[in-house]
Amino acid sequence: NTVYILNGPNLNLLGKRQPHIYGHVTLADVEAECTALAAELGVGVRFLQSNYEGQIIDWVHEAREDGAGIVINPAAFTHTSVAILDALNTFEGPVIEVHISNVHKRESFRHHSYVSLRADGVIAGCGTEGYSLGLRRVASLLNGAAK
Ligand code: DQA
Repeated sequence: NTVYILNGPNLNLLGKRQPHIYGHVTLADVEAECTALAAELGVGVRFLQSNYEGQIIDWVHEAREDGAGIVINPAAFTHTSVAILDALNTFEGPVIEVHISNVHKRESFRHHSYVSLRADGVIAGCGTEGYSLGLRRVASLLNGAAK
């Protein structure tokens, strides 16, 4: 089993970008943590980031072909992208949505998520630890845990 960990726009700058909101941990650090955890959980991992909506959609289609699970931080596309929601609606495996910050404590435009209409679970405001939590949950859903 493989878990795709998909990251949306500006997350390549994690650790440098608004550290008072997103912290000092980099996306490479998060990738290393997820890779180690995936080995422990006995799943494969594809850790990916793009600033382009269409690229994220293509990766969702690849995950669909692979029968994989998805952890996704769609970043700003969370609040705008019907196209990513539609892609996720073609996907039958487990989906956990992750936000590093607590989007509900922030501007009202961050309170609505298109992706949440499909996600099996949402983790927000747990910092970059949210990725490990999401990965654990997707691995257990792939292993047949009840939703
Ligand atoms: C984010 C929250 C989004 O509102 C924002 O656009 C991001 C990151 C988070 O991880 O907290 O880029 O998804």
